[in-house]
Amino acid sequence: MRILLIGYMGSGKSTLGKWLAKRLNYAFIDMDELIEKAEGATISEIFASKGEAEFRLIEQTAISKFKDFTNVVIATGGGAPCFFDNAQQMNDLGLTIYLKLTPHVLVDRLKGATHTRPLLSGKSDKEMLDFITNKLLEREPFYNKAKVIADANHLDNELYVEIVENYSKEN
Ligand code: S3P
Repeated sequence: MRILLIGYMGSGKSTLGKWLAKRLNYAFIDMDELIEKAEGATISEIFASKGEAEFRLIEQTAISKFKDFTNVVIATGGGAPCFFDNAQQMNDLGLTIYLKLTPHVLVDRLKGATHTRPLLSGKSDKEMLDFITNKLLEREPFYNKAKVIADANHLDNELYVEIVENYSKEN
């Protein structure tokens, strides 16, 4: 069983992922951290030295390695399902859950956390709101390919456990 959490930066994939992994007694993988370890550089450094296009190729390679892990919760990078056929690959790997939030909530959560996120660095709150609103329009067709779309504003953590249990019964 693999659970892949999908969604924009700041949607809580890592926080929920760590909680869910502990609750289910699964391993937890943060995709960005996996890439940072493999590359020996931070995500910001990779963007700066290699550029976004190269970063997306590195992400694609990381996804192809997820099949080596089982009983795992994976917090995926915010852009990961939106390039190549990654969304399909992720669905083939297991239970994909999109943590859906509105742009306003995302901006509130991302304030002050932009230094580690090259796509947002240097943006004012207003610029961030415009940027995220546009990005979500572009990305939601990919996020919406997830097997489960969760209203991450209201969902109690235990409901994710139910989602996982129902899914494993059916698969
Ligand atoms: C990105 C999201 C980041 C990271 C990179 C690009 C994106 O991951 O992969 O900065 O394109 O949305 P998180 O969603 O874990 O912050």
